[in-house]
Amino acid sequence: MVASRIFDTLGHSKGPAPESSTRGTTHLDLGCGWGSLNRAALGRPSISRTIGVDNDGGMIKEAERRVGVGEVDGTDVRWVEGDLKACADLREYVGESCTSALITTYMVTDGLTALRPLLGGALRDIEHVTIITVDYEIEGWAGREGGDMMGLTWYIYNLDSMPVK
Ligand SMILES: C[S@@+](CC[C@H](N)C(=O)[O-])C[C@H]1O[C@@H](n2cnc3c(N)ncnc32)[C@H](O)[C@@H]1O
Repeated sequence: MVASRIFDTLGHSKGPAPESSTRGTTHLDLGCGWGSLNRAALGRPSISRTIGVDNDGGMIKEAERRVGVGEVDGTDVRWVEGDLKACADLREYVGESCTSALITTYMVTDGLTALRPLLGGALRDIEHVTIITVDYEIEGWAGREGGDMMGLTWYIYNLDSMPVK
């Protein structure tokens, strides 16, 4: 599956988990739809949890049906029906104990701009945070191209070098 390449490229392969501090990474897809990116995160030893958030309840039900819920392939799968515009802090989703986070999102430029304060303030106290956007870039942020997913370019942002807002 092509989305898998995102996780492989970032070092979250399906092989044995590396002895690194990104073990136990929480993957969070913002606007998860039916959960294709969450599904691609399954069965990777360095990713312990994958969480999908979407404001469309029908999509969340479809994600539960297609991907599952609870432990799937050794990964804890969770779904949240919620409006990201109403979220003040991504800790709401990942919890206080998260020490490594991989955030993915496939939204158009306007959607990303609306999310920018949430992403910019995101999880600043966590040592490892990587943000991936698919097809669209975050305006004003310097990302780099990560690769290609079904003809769509995806971009990598390391939060340490990003502005707060
Ligand atoms: C282009 S789809 C991406 C689906 C999936 N992440 C993927 O890569 O295949 C964008 C998703 O974002 C969701 N979305 C848009 N605005 C949202 C918001 N404010 N809060 C939560 N989800 C939102 C839509 O319902 C839609 O499912």
